[in-house]
Amino acid sequence: MTESLATVAYIGATILFILSLGGLSNPETARRGNLFGIIGMTIAVLATVLGPRVTPAGIPWIVGALVIGGAVGLFAAKKVQMTQMPELVALMHSLVGLAACLVGFASYVDTSVQFTGAEKAIHEMEIYIGILIGAVTFSGSVIAFGKLSGKIGGKPLLLPGRHWLNLAGLLIVVWFGRQFLNAHDIQAGMLPLLVMTVVALLFGIHMVMAIGGADMPVVVSMLNSYSGWAAAATGFMLSNDLLIVVGALVGSSGAILSYIMCRAMNRNFISVIAGGFGGGAPAPGGGAAAQPAGEVSPISAAETAELLREAKNVVIVPGYGMAVAQAQHTVFEITRHLREKGVKVRFGIHPVAGRMPGHMNVLLAEAKVPYDIVLEMDEINEDFPDTDVTMVIGANDIVNPAAQDDPTSPIAGMPVLEVWKAKTSIVMKRSMASGYAGVDNPLFYKDNNRMLFGDAKKMLDEVLVALKT
Ligand code: TAP
Repeated sequence: MTESLATVAYIGATILFILSLGGLSNPETARRGNLFGIIGMTIAVLATVLGPRVTPAGIPWIVGALVIGGAVGLFAAKKVQMTQMPELVALMHSLVGLAACLVGFASYVDTSVQFTGAEKAIHEMEIYIGILIGAVTFSGSVIAFGKLSGKIGGKPLLLPGRHWLNLAGLLIVVWFGRQFLNAHDIQAGMLPLLVMTVVALLFGIHMVMAIGGADMPVVVSMLNSYSGWAAAATGFMLSNDLLIVVGALVGSSGAILSYIMCRAMNRNFISVIAGGFGGGAPAPGGGAAAQPAGEVSPISAAETAELLREAKNVVIVPGYGMAVAQAQHTVFEITRHLREKGVKVRFGIHPVAGRMPGHMNVLLAEAKVPYDIVLEMDEINEDFPDTDVTMVIGANDIVNPAAQDDPTSPIAGMPVLEVWKAKTSIVMKRSMASGYAGVDNPLFYKDNNRMLFGDAKKMLDEVLVALKT
């Protein structure tokens, strides 16, 4: 393939990636967006492998890597549960970071292309910054993987003088950057490069360790953004325009998503990065409010069906528990049944419900729930006072009134779905256990709330049977 044909293919792939991102912003066009992405990536890989910069001797290596990488990807896609997706995504981000580091070191020791003067300085700067971003992304993502999979606790690690530590790390990186750029040969440049890599790895670990469990949604999208910038940096090192553009697309869309996440949780981006929020422990002085004493009123599946049958207006609020129980198909069956009987059924989706952005939307789309009855929090919150029954399916933090009522709560200020304003709310969960943020939920003790204890799928199956009899 000639250089110009490869360039045309790259431009085509870039357009497809932009269309893909546009499509993914709406559930109705998401499938098409995905397809554009797949076609774009196929074109990009083919144009690179068959392009002028790959020699025939390199082809077997690339094919070998494709086979191994493809097999691992297929295995992971088949084995990983839907509830483990966020961990998998974090792990994938770490691979992008690792790749940026490896490409950086390889570019530095590669003597086949000789740069001189300003070009050499620019190339070395690209290598230094590329490895820096890659190393932070790599170690930060590994820690995020550990936190999301529960291998590392959600409590933030707040070292004394942590901001000073970070500042010292930054100064070391700048100082060794100067040494690196002034080095006369590869041997002399290797030491500053290695020192910077170690500092960047430690910074990545420290940064994510300092972030509390409740802020993890922001961290996931932030690392997504970092992985994009790491890919763009790799593109600069390899002089690959497509990688630069795609990396910048991922980097900027991840940054926008982080901003949206912060807004959804009423958090300031800088304070999230500075860390310390959402430790999973009760807030200082908030012990009593964090553990409201009171009686809960249990309800049976048959009584739930009765309430639903009599209702005119029902809102379903799904959360992480629906994903764990894989209850979305039964939810759809119940929705269809109620709608056929003339009941108005809608869904209220919190931006951080579940464990990854869009988690609930993906599950409901999979179960073929119509998009027009799936509403965002801001669109449905005003309607709860006119709602007869709200069914909270495996959700907890996103419907916690303490976020509004208790300024000492670790989730204080986070906007929540105001399900308690409905005539009756029914919470489906297996026990009185807390949710991801580790705080108790005063909703359970409200007079108009009922608890339907049990696995969401099992209980909803029983509700469906009762509805049909
Ligand atoms: P959570 O607050 O985590 O609550 C989920 C509830 O589901 C739990 O209290 C659990 O109670 C119940 N549950 C678990 N398995 C169940 C099953 N098989 N059947 C029935 N119930 C089950 O979830 P949420 O309300 O969706 O809120 C999301 C939380 O995750 C927020 O704190 C958010 O910040 C955080 N987070 C979100 C993301 C993104 S991007 N969405 C990423 C990381 C973290 P039982 O154990 O009693 O059943």
